[in-house]
Amino acid sequence: MSGFLRNMPPVGLEVDLVDIPVKGRLPPQLDGTLLRIGPNPLFPAEGAHWFAGDGMVHAFHIAGGTVRYQNRWVRTARWLAERAAGRALAGGLEDTAGDGLANTNIVHHGGRLLALEEAHPPVALRLDGLATLGSADFDAPVSGPFTAHPKVDPVTGQLLFFGYGTPDWLGPGMCFGVLDAGGRVERFDRFEAPYASMVHDFAATAHYAVFPVQPLTASRERMRAGGPPFAWEGERACALGVLHRNAPVDSLAWWSLPSCHAYHVMNAWEDGSVLRIDVMQAHAAALFPRPDGSPVADAGGARLSRWSIDLDDRRHTARSELLCEVRGEFPRIDERRSGLPYRHGWFIGHDPGGHDPGGHDPGSEQPFSRIVHIDHARPLAPDVHALADGDACSEAVFVARSPGAEEGDGWLLAVAYRGAADRSDLLVFDARDVGAGPLASASLPVRVPNGFHGNWIPS
Ligand SMILES: [Fe+2]
Repeated sequence: MSGFLRNMPPVGLEVDLVDIPVKGRLPPQLDGTLLRIGPNPLFPAEGAHWFAGDGMVHAFHIAGGTVRYQNRWVRTARWLAERAAGRALAGGLEDTAGDGLANTNIVHHGGRLLALEEAHPPVALRLDGLATLGSADFDAPVSGPFTAHPKVDPVTGQLLFFGYGTPDWLGPGMCFGVLDAGGRVERFDRFEAPYASMVHDFAATAHYAVFPVQPLTASRERMRAGGPPFAWEGERACALGVLHRNAPVDSLAWWSLPSCHAYHVMNAWEDGSVLRIDVMQAHAAALFPRPDGSPVADAGGARLSRWSIDLDDRRHTARSELLCEVRGEFPRIDERRSGLPYRHGWFIGHDPGGHDPGGHDPGSEQPFSRIVHIDHARPLAPDVHALADGDACSEAVFVARSPGAEEGDGWLLAVAYRGAADRSDLLVFDARDVGAGPLASASLPVRVPNGFHGNWIPS
């Protein structure tokens, strides 16, 4: 079994660990907290979707060359009810009641730490101790679903967000909002997508927001008839909604793109009158069935690809090109270049297995076992750190050496599962030379399940 599958089950304990042994030397400038979050069901239920587990936060506090670790479930209404009942309760991706699962991303903005899950408003936490403060309220009219992938404009400090399936979950309604650097609402608008779908991520450039509606369709009627609430309908084209950030929402226009699926955007920027959007693109959506419930034969794995939207194209036709053959997920950048032209990106790659002349062997595939650094100056020659067989890695997070350091000058932090010992290490790499291996690793006596996303919060 791959390290990724072995590290999928939840952990059952909340712990506080100090004096974690460190191999190598942690850079003294690393002073802050790496936060990660992911599904960690309190009571694992047979057949439950990976996305539907209660959120658990993992914090690595780094200072003075030492590491402390702490993990806590987010005390959502559902988690509290489950704990009181002593068993798993109904409710998964079709459930929009309460404050949700708080399991997908964790961001710090406007003085608040927010656990995000896209079907609900954020849940606020306390950074010190990770106590749950409750559903985060924003000024009216902000309400309802809030993406787990907001974008922070590095120039203005604004946080851009959107929601889908709002006001009616599984419907085509969407919203777009902007918070200022202090967390106050600057704009909030509603619009309608060409069809209802799961919209996990979006793109933002200095002047535009782009909402990718892809054929991972949503349907309440299908769900009521006993089918899946979300399903892959690959015969549909994608629709990319383009909105100038300062224009009224009725100016939003849709560009078509041949059928494909991307969960995540690496970055987007303006190249004259063309919007470039780098995504991890697959043939189909992994992890979801067809409308009749049958599995998608082969989603193909996601590869770094570039969408181009020519704002002067009156036919409103977007195109996609492949940038790198390595399959993977969880793309990240030096966030100081968010929405701007950029050079460096990172993602977690799969080892396709079959290291013989016969090639790919699904039986020996090792998903999420490579840390990949893309230098867009030479995208065909990625800089790669390969973990040992049986290991797996979660999303890596970039930390700049200093606020004024040049793009990519800093560290890449990643949490690796060590299959042979059934526990996890925090790894610190030189972000522009991950192939050289970690500069330092902190060895936890416990396992940090795969999870989804994380971020660095400087002290
Ligand atoms: Fe995500």
